[in-house]
Amino acid sequence: MQSARHIVNLALVGFMGTGKTTVGRHVAEYLGFEFLDTDEMIQARTNRTITDIFAKDGEPAFRALEKQVVAELAAREQTVIATGGGLPTNAENLAALKSFALVICLWASPEKIWDRVKNQSHRPLLHDANPQQKIRDLLAVREPFYKQADVLINTDLRSVREAAQQIALQYKLATRKRR
Ligand code: S3P
Repeated sequence: MQSARHIVNLALVGFMGTGKTTVGRHVAEYLGFEFLDTDEMIQARTNRTITDIFAKDGEPAFRALEKQVVAELAAREQTVIATGGGLPTNAENLAALKSFALVICLWASPEKIWDRVKNQSHRPLLHDANPQQKIRDLLAVREPFYKQADVLINTDLRSVREAAQQIALQYKLATRKRR
């Protein structure tokens, strides 16, 4: 059963390289909201990089930190929250996000994702012999979670500005007072 929703924030979910952080900053500016990124929160509080946490403590330790951060976000209002790509694949995290935020999924094709991430090195899950195949495999596993978002926005053909405008509009529609 879906628990009651109190939509006072925006949460951006989606695969690595779909633009959650970049687009999220723009949306926050449009709406006059604060911007938070769960990866940045984890790095700030542990004083470590995501790569270091994965390498030394393993992925489960990182997922536990994500869970803690989600619990704390419940107290926020007027905040755009960009989440790490794996965060909504935990059903409890996704349900928590939905309880206090309109959840927007930024979608992109595996080809576009590869194009955007191939020159970056800060994502441990893509430190793989065949990162392109890893993207396709992970995306297939995660798709059912991402598709539970309230709104799906394909970023393949949209500029950052267009995606941000769409999201701000969706938020206004979802939170307008109905008579
Ligand atoms: C991850 C995505 C990353 C970061 C970590 C794990 C994932 O965030 O949380 O490397 O599981 O997809 P971005 O989606 O912001 O790259």
